[in-house]
Amino acid sequence: MKENLKFEISYTAYPDSSELPELYQQLIAKAKQATNDSYAPYSNFKVGAAVLLNNGEIILGSNQENASYPLGLCAERTALSAAASLASNEKIKAIAITAKSAKNPVLQPAAPCGICRQVIFEAENKHHQNIEIILTGEQGIVYVFKSIKDLLPLHFDANFL
Ligand code: THU
Repeated sequence: MKENLKFEISYTAYPDSSELPELYQQLIAKAKQATNDSYAPYSNFKVGAAVLLNNGEIILGSNQENASYPLGLCAERTALSAAASLASNEKIKAIAITAKSAKNPVLQPAAPCGICRQVIFEAENKHHQNIEIILTGEQGIVYVFKSIKDLLPLHFDANFL
Protein backbone atom coordinates (compact mmCIF):
# COMPACT_ATOMS: atom_id res chain seq x y z
CA MET A 1 0.00 0.00 0.00
CA LYS A 2 1.28 3.44 -0.78
CA GLU A 3 2.41 5.69 2.02
CA ASN A 4 2.85 9.45 1.95
CA LEU A 5 6.00 10.32 3.82
CA LYS A 6 7.51 13.57 4.97
CA PHE A 7 10.96 14.79 5.85
CA GLU A 8 11.23 17.04 8.85
CA ILE A 9 14.10 19.49 8.86
CA SER A 10 14.99 21.55 11.88
CA TYR A 11 17.41 24.43 11.96
CA THR A 12 18.07 27.51 14.02
CA ALA A 13 17.71 31.07 12.77
CA TYR A 14 19.62 33.85 14.53
CA PRO A 15 18.45 37.37 13.64
CA ASP A 16 22.06 38.50 13.56
CA SER A 17 25.50 36.89 13.74
CA SER A 18 26.25 38.78 17.00
CA GLU A 19 23.87 36.32 18.73
CA LEU A 20 25.93 33.28 17.77
CA PRO A 21 28.60 31.73 20.01
CA GLU A 22 31.91 33.62 19.70
CA LEU A 23 33.62 30.79 17.79
CA TYR A 24 30.93 30.79 15.11
CA GLN A 25 31.06 34.58 14.87
CA GLN A 26 34.77 34.19 14.17
CA LEU A 27 34.07 31.49 11.59
CA ILE A 28 31.61 33.77 9.77
CA ALA A 29 34.16 36.60 9.86
CA LYS A 30 36.70 34.23 8.26
CA ALA A 31 34.19 33.17 5.57
CA LYS A 32 33.61 36.86 4.81
CA GLN A 33 37.37 37.38 4.63
CA ALA A 34 37.57 34.47 2.15
CA THR A 35 35.19 36.27 -0.26
CA ASN A 36 38.10 38.67 -0.91
CA ASP A 37 40.02 35.80 -2.54
CA SER A 38 37.09 34.85 -4.76
CA TYR A 39 37.78 34.93 -8.50
CA ALA A 40 34.36 35.66 -9.97
CA PRO A 41 34.79 37.92 -13.01
CA TYR A 42 31.82 36.28 -14.76
CA SER A 43 29.15 36.25 -12.06
CA ASN A 44 30.52 38.95 -9.76
CA PHE A 45 29.05 36.77 -7.01
CA LYS A 46 31.76 36.21 -4.43
CA VAL A 47 31.31 33.25 -2.12
CA GLY A 48 33.46 32.47 0.92
CA ALA A 49 33.61 29.34 3.05
CA ALA A 50 35.44 28.69 6.31
CA VAL A 51 35.93 25.14 7.56
CA LEU A 52 36.47 24.64 11.30
CA LEU A 53 38.46 21.52 12.19
CA ASN A 54 38.24 19.66 15.51
CA ASN A 55 41.73 20.94 16.37
CA GLY A 56 40.50 24.55 16.07
CA GLU A 57 42.23 25.25 12.77
CA ILE A 58 40.20 27.21 10.21
CA ILE A 59 40.67 26.59 6.48
CA LEU A 60 39.27 28.98 3.90
CA GLY A 61 37.94 28.61 0.38
CA SER A 62 36.31 30.85 -2.20
CA ASN A 63 34.69 30.35 -5.58
CA GLN A 64 37.12 30.20 -8.49
CA GLU A 65 35.52 30.72 -11.88
CA ASN A 66 36.82 29.95 -15.35
CA ALA A 67 36.12 31.29 -18.85
CA SER A 68 35.04 27.72 -19.56
CA TYR A 69 32.12 28.20 -17.17
CA PRO A 70 31.49 24.61 -16.01
CA LEU A 71 35.05 24.42 -14.70
CA GLY A 72 34.28 26.96 -11.99
CA LEU A 73 34.60 25.73 -8.43
CA CYS A 74 32.32 26.68 -5.58
CA ALA A 75 33.73 28.09 -2.36
CA GLU A 76 32.54 25.12 -0.30
CA ARG A 77 34.35 22.57 -2.44
CA THR A 78 37.49 24.70 -2.59
CA ALA A 79 37.54 24.92 1.22
CA LEU A 80 36.79 21.22 1.74
CA SER A 81 39.44 20.17 -0.79
CA ALA A 82 41.97 22.39 0.97
CA ALA A 83 40.99 20.91 4.34
CA ALA A 84 41.27 17.35 3.00
CA SER A 85 44.65 18.12 1.44
CA LEU A 86 46.17 20.02 4.36
CA ALA A 87 44.69 18.10 7.29
CA SER A 88 43.29 14.84 5.96
CA ASN A 89 42.98 13.16 9.36
CA GLU A 90 41.34 16.07 11.13
CA LYS A 91 37.58 15.87 11.51
CA ILE A 92 35.43 18.81 10.46
CA LYS A 93 33.23 20.48 13.06
CA ALA A 94 31.54 23.20 11.01
CA ILE A 95 31.51 25.14 7.78
CA ALA A 96 30.40 28.76 7.47
CA ILE A 97 29.27 29.97 4.07
CA THR A 98 28.61 33.52 2.95
CA ALA A 99 28.42 35.56 -0.25
CA LYS A 100 28.54 39.12 -1.49
CA SER A 101 27.57 40.50 -4.85
CA ALA A 102 28.54 43.65 -6.72
CA LYS A 103 25.06 43.73 -8.29
CA ASN A 104 22.57 43.12 -5.48
CA PRO A 105 23.36 42.89 -1.77
CA VAL A 106 23.00 39.30 -0.56
CA LEU A 107 20.44 39.69 2.21
CA GLN A 108 19.47 36.02 2.53
CA PRO A 109 21.70 33.24 3.85
CA ALA A 110 23.77 31.75 1.01
CA ALA A 111 22.76 28.11 0.67
CA PRO A 112 25.15 25.56 -0.85
CA CYS A 113 24.37 24.17 -4.30
CA GLY A 114 23.38 20.53 -4.76
CA ILE A 115 26.86 19.39 -5.78
CA CYS A 116 28.41 20.98 -2.69
CA ARG A 117 25.77 19.40 -0.47
CA GLN A 118 26.85 15.99 -1.74
CA VAL A 119 30.51 16.86 -1.14
CA ILE A 120 29.77 18.06 2.40
CA PHE A 121 27.84 14.81 2.93
CA GLU A 122 30.90 12.79 1.86
CA ALA A 123 33.06 14.73 4.34
CA GLU A 124 30.59 13.93 7.14
CA ASN A 125 30.51 10.28 6.15
CA LYS A 126 34.29 10.02 5.84
CA HIS A 127 34.91 11.31 9.34
CA HIS A 128 31.78 9.87 11.00
CA GLN A 129 31.00 13.27 12.43
CA ASN A 130 28.19 15.72 11.73
CA ILE A 131 29.27 19.02 10.23
CA GLU A 132 27.38 22.08 11.38
CA ILE A 133 26.42 24.29 8.46
CA ILE A 134 26.29 28.02 9.13
CA LEU A 135 24.70 30.09 6.38
CA THR A 136 24.66 33.85 6.13
CA GLY A 137 24.49 36.68 3.63
CA GLU A 138 26.20 40.03 3.82
CA GLN A 139 24.33 40.88 7.01
CA GLY A 140 21.36 39.89 9.14
CA ILE A 141 19.81 36.46 9.51
CA VAL A 142 22.00 33.40 10.05
CA TYR A 143 20.82 29.79 9.69
CA VAL A 144 22.52 26.95 11.53
CA PHE A 145 21.95 23.33 10.51
CA LYS A 146 23.24 20.47 12.68
CA SER A 147 24.11 18.24 9.75
CA ILE A 148 24.19 18.26 5.97
CA LYS A 149 21.53 15.52 6.17
CA ASP A 150 19.04 18.29 6.90
CA LEU A 151 19.92 19.95 3.59
CA LEU A 152 20.27 16.70 1.66
CA PRO A 153 17.88 14.25 3.30
CA LEU A 154 18.17 11.72 0.47
CA HIS A 155 21.86 11.43 -0.30
CA PHE A 156 24.03 9.19 -2.37
CA ASP A 157 25.89 7.16 0.21
CA ALA A 158 29.27 5.48 -0.36
CA ASN A 159 27.92 2.52 1.60
CA PHE A 160 25.68 1.75 -1.40
CA LEU A 161 28.71 0.99 -3.57
N1 THU B 1 28.74 29.36 -5.89
C1 THU B 1 29.45 28.93 -4.81
O1 THU B 1 30.64 29.21 -4.67
N2 THU B 1 28.80 28.18 -3.89
C2 THU B 1 27.48 27.82 -3.98
O2 THU B 1 27.01 27.04 -3.17
C3 THU B 1 26.64 28.37 -5.05
C4 THU B 1 27.36 29.07 -6.13
C5 THU B 1 29.45 30.16 -6.89
C6 THU B 1 29.59 29.51 -8.23
C7 THU B 1 29.78 30.70 -9.13
O3 THU B 1 31.14 31.05 -9.14
C8 THU B 1 29.00 31.81 -8.44
O4 THU B 1 28.74 31.36 -7.13
C9 THU B 1 27.70 32.16 -9.12
O5 THU B 1 26.91 31.05 -9.31
